[in-house]
Amino acid sequence: MSFYNIKMSDKLVDVNSDIRGEVYRESLRMNKEGIEVLKLNTGNPATFGFTMPASVKKALTENMDNAVAYCDLQGMPSAREAIVDYHTKRGVKNVKMENIFITNGVSEAASMLMTALVNYNDEVLIPTPSYSLWTNTTLIAGGKPVFYKCDEKANWYPDIEDIKSKITSNTKAIIIINPNNPTGAVYPEEVLREILKVAKENKLVVISDEIYDRLLMPGVSHTSVAAIADDQLVITLNGLSKSHVICGFRCGWMLISGRTEEAPMLIEGLVKQASMRLCSNALTQLVIPAALEDSASTIEMMSPGGRLYEQSKATVEAINKCETLECVKNDGAFYIFPKILRKECNIRDDRKFALDLLHEKKILIVPGSGFDYETPDHFRIVMLPQPEILANAVYEIDDFLKNYTQK
Ligand SMILES: Cc1ncc(COP(=O)(O)O)c(C=O)c1O
Repeated sequence: MSFYNIKMSDKLVDVNSDIRGEVYRESLRMNKEGIEVLKLNTGNPATFGFTMPASVKKALTENMDNAVAYCDLQGMPSAREAIVDYHTKRGVKNVKMENIFITNGVSEAASMLMTALVNYNDEVLIPTPSYSLWTNTTLIAGGKPVFYKCDEKANWYPDIEDIKSKITSNTKAIIIINPNNPTGAVYPEEVLREILKVAKENKLVVISDEIYDRLLMPGVSHTSVAAIADDQLVITLNGLSKSHVICGFRCGWMLISGRTEEAPMLIEGLVKQASMRLCSNALTQLVIPAALEDSASTIEMMSPGGRLYEQSKATVEAINKCETLECVKNDGAFYIFPKILRKECNIRDDRKFALDLLHEKKILIVPGSGFDYETPDHFRIVMLPQPEILANAVYEIDDFLKNYTQK
C-alpha cells in the first residue's frame, strides 16, 4: 500500500501541452526502438540546423564576464534600454525602463503576468486555436479560459462579434497572439483597433504575445497593438527564441504600456515574483542589444531563397495539391494549420489520428485539440525541416488520410 499517496495538485489537472504530450512521448519510445520519426511538433529551429546569428554569438562570448553576478531583478539596464528603443521604434509611446521585465522566455513572463493579474473566477479571453501557454497559465492562476474564435474563412482573424458575445462581468483580460501560433496569421490594423475598442468599452487588459513580430513574409507588415492603443493598459510580450533562433537561451520580456498609472499593484505583483527568482538568466540578457540591432538575419530567413520562406512555400504548395487537405497560407511565423477535408476519415478523436499517423508514417504532428480548437479536423505542422522533406511529409499525410477512417 502506498504510504504518501501523492497525487498531482488539482491546479494542474486541466493543464495540457500536447506539443510535448502523449503522442510525442510515443515518438520518443519509437526512437528508443531505433525507429526514426520526422518530428514536426516543436518550433525549435536549432534542432533543424538553424544556427545563432554571428551578432548574438559575438555579444555573448565577448561579454560573458559581465553576467557572473545576479543582475537587476527586472533585467540588465543595457538590455532594457535596447528594449525601450525597440518598442519606441515600433511606435509605442512613453516606453519606460521601469515597466519592462526581462524573463526566462515569454513562457516565464506569461506565468508571472497571469499570477499577478488573474484572480479566482476571473475570465480571460483566449483565441482558439491558440498556443497552449495562455490557457495553461490562466488555469494555474485560478482563472477561467474563455475561447474566442479566429475565423479560418477570414484568414484566421479574430471574430469580433464572437469576442463581444463572450464578455461577462468576470472578464478581466483579452489575449492576442499576433503573428499567431498555430495559424501563422498576422492581424491587420483595423482588426486590432476593433479589439482595442471592445477591450476599452469593457475595461479589459490587453495582452499581446508578439514573439513572432519580426518573422514576416515579404510584403507583410506587423502592427504592435500597444502602438495604436490610446489610453489603455497593454502588456506586450516578446523575445529572441524565434527571431534569433535561440530558444534554449530562454530570453524574453514583457512591457507594460499605456495607462500604467492604473496598474501599480500589477507591477508590484510582477516585482514580487521577479525578486522571488532573483533575476532572469544574465548570460542571455547580454545578447539583447546586439540581437535587436540585427534584423538582417531574421529578414533573410523570411525572404525568397531564405529557409523559412522556401519551407513555407513548399509546404503550402504541397498542401494545395492534396485531395484531403487545405490551408490558409501563413503570413508570419513558421506554422501552418491545415484542415482535413475528407469526411470519410470520420475523425472524432484527433489525438488518436495523430497517434495512428505516427505509427503508420513515422511523422509527428500536433492535433488541433492541442490548440484548444473546437473541431477534430485540423492539425499543426512546424515548417522547420528543409523544403523537400516538408513537401514529402505532406504527401505522406495525404496518402495516409486517403485510406483512414476512425470507427
Ligand atoms: C505564441 C508563443 N508565445 C510564447 C512562446 C514561448 O516562447 P519562449 O521561448 O520565449 O518561452 C511560444 C513558443 O513556441 C509561442 O509560440
